[in-house]
This record gives sequence, structure tokens and C-alpha cells, in this order.
Amino acid sequence: MKWTPMLVLLLLGVCSMLSGVRLCLQCERIVRLMHEDFVLSEPDALKQIELQKIVDYAYVTFRETSQSRMGVVDFTTLYRARTEYQSEFHRFLKSTTGSTNEAIQIMENGREILAQHLGTFIPDGLCPNKCGLLIRRVLDCTSCLYRAYTCPSPTGQENCGEFPVDVKEGDQAVLDCFLPWHRLLLSKPEYHYSWGSNLKRSDFKVLVVTQDSSVVLNQLHVEEGGTYQCSLQNQTGTVFYKVKFLLSVAALPTNGQNPVVTLPSLHYGHSLKWREALVPVICIVIACCLAASLGLAVLLRAIWKEEKVKRLQEENPLQKLFKDQI
Ligand SMILES: *[C@@H]1O[C@H](CO)[C@@H](O)[C@H](O)[C@H]1NC(C)=O
Repeated sequence: MKWTPMLVLLLLGVCSMLSGVRLCLQCERIVRLMHEDFVLSEPDALKQIELQKIVDYAYVTFRETSQSRMGVVDFTTLYRARTEYQSEFHRFLKSTTGSTNEAIQIMENGREILAQHLGTFIPDGLCPNKCGLLIRRVLDCTSCLYRAYTCPSPTGQENCGEFPVDVKEGDQAVLDCFLPWHRLLLSKPEYHYSWGSNLKRSDFKVLVVTQDSSVVLNQLHVEEGGTYQCSLQNQTGTVFYKVKFLLSVAALPTNGQNPVVTLPSLHYGHSLKWREALVPVICIVIACCLAASLGLAVLLRAIWKEEKVKRLQEENPLQKLFKDQI
């Protein structure tokens, strides 16, 4: 009875070794501390020893599994697996009755979580370069240390194709040779853009060296067509990825209607702007003038009316009165 947990763990180890699952959970300090706390929380000393044995044995099988195939993992995958296992472990701590079988089961769950994450990472995520050389950082599950891992180009070379780009004279062309796996490369490489005419294709002239994967070619002329090469390389000249853009610039038809409009005079532009701005000002001035004259007319009319009334009062009734008095 006492040996059943050991036997189960041993079987687990053998199974995972055969399936080739690489486990790095033993490299995570947080996981080790979590297991330590779990063992120490057991009040019974004998039970504590038994739990410690289970944990230790889990690590042995983890390491053996890793060693059986040179196991590696990237930071992101390990982080995801670890956090998932952590939350599962916290749920286990809340519900456990303290039996050793439950302890074995939770470690097996951890192995399953890792197996699941590694199952997608190893075939798809470890070497995502379909063409080109990838040298990246991985965690070595045997030493628990980070190291460089080389994913050779599946095509056997760093030349990864030629892409035609067709534009019209005067147009813009954006050349971009970025692929997501470029971000994984160690030792910050740079994009080298160079140009060669179609006549002398071997003779390339460097245009720009930049961290940016793209270049913008503005107002293209026919003579600027040719082969543009993008080469991703590090400071010592190791090439990781290289593509070519075959740019052809089509000449515009010249049927007497030469586009002279391309040089609009700055002065003309300014005066046009001023004229445009003056229109509302003139309108406002005219409106003000009209309003003022209207107001003046009304005022004059009022004054004139008052005058007239006064005069009438002065002339007629008063005069009459005056005359009558006289
Ligand atoms: C460039 O890459 C090569 C191959 O990985 C490496 O040996 C060399 O040290 C790298 N150079 C720099 C400056 O990182």
C-alpha cells in the first residue's frame, strides 16, 4: 500500500519518457517553493517525509524526461504552463483531504499541462522559420539555464524568394521584408537594403541599414526600377534572411500633356489662401456698413419726425393760440 504512490509515479515517469514529453517545470523557482510550502503545511512528520519523497521523485522523472530528449522551452510557453499549473495547484490545496494519492494526481496534472503546452510549442513555436536561419534563446530543461538554440533554414539557404513589385512613374512603393520570427533572433540584427539595376544584378549598392524592416520609395522614376535586396544580418555579417523585390516602374504616357502641375508655386498657394480668408472679412464689413446705414436712416427718420412734430406744435397750435391771444 505504501509503495503504490511510488509505483504510480515511476509508471508516470516511464510513460512520459516514452512519449518524449519535455518538462521544465522543475526549473521554476515558484513551483519549487509552492511544493515546499505544501510539504511543510503537513503537521504529521512522517506524512511530511512521504510527501517530500513524492515531490522529489516527481522532479527526478521530470529531469529524466528532459534528458531523454534534449528538452528546451521558451519563456512564454513555460510561463503559460506554470501559471496554469499554479492555479490548478491552488484549487487542489483548497479541496484536498490530505491523501497522498491526491498529491500524486496534482503532480500528474502539472505534467499534463506541460505536455499540452509543449505539444503545440515544439512543432509550431520552437522553429517558426519556414525559410531563413533562426538563432534564438531557449531554456535548457537539463541545466535550467538559458542558451542559444539554432533552427537551421528548412530550405537549406538564407535566400527566401523574389517578389515582383509593379508601380507607375511618380508613385510610391513600400518594401517590407518583416516576418514575426525575426523578433526572436538573438543579437539584434539589422535590415540591409541594397539596390542593383536589372542589367548588373550582382552589383548591389547599399541604400540603408536599419532596425526598421521596411523602406518607402517616393516619387519613383523609371530608372529607379531594378532589384531591391533586403538582408537581415547581425553586426558580424551573419545573414539570417534575405529576399529580393523586383521593382518595375512603368513610364507614364507622354501625349503632349506634360504634368507641369507638379510644381505649384508656394506664393500662389499663399495668395489663394489669403483671398479665401478675405472673403468672409469683406462680407462682414459690407454687412456692418449696411447695418450702420440702416440704423442711421432709422435714426434720421426719427429725428426728422420729432422735428416735424415740434415744428407743427410750434407753428400751428401755438401760433394759433398766440394769434388768438393777440
Ligand atoms: C552573429 O551571428 C553569428 C552566428 O550566430 C555569431 O557567431 C556572431 O557572434 C554574431 N555576431 C554578433 C555581433 O552578435
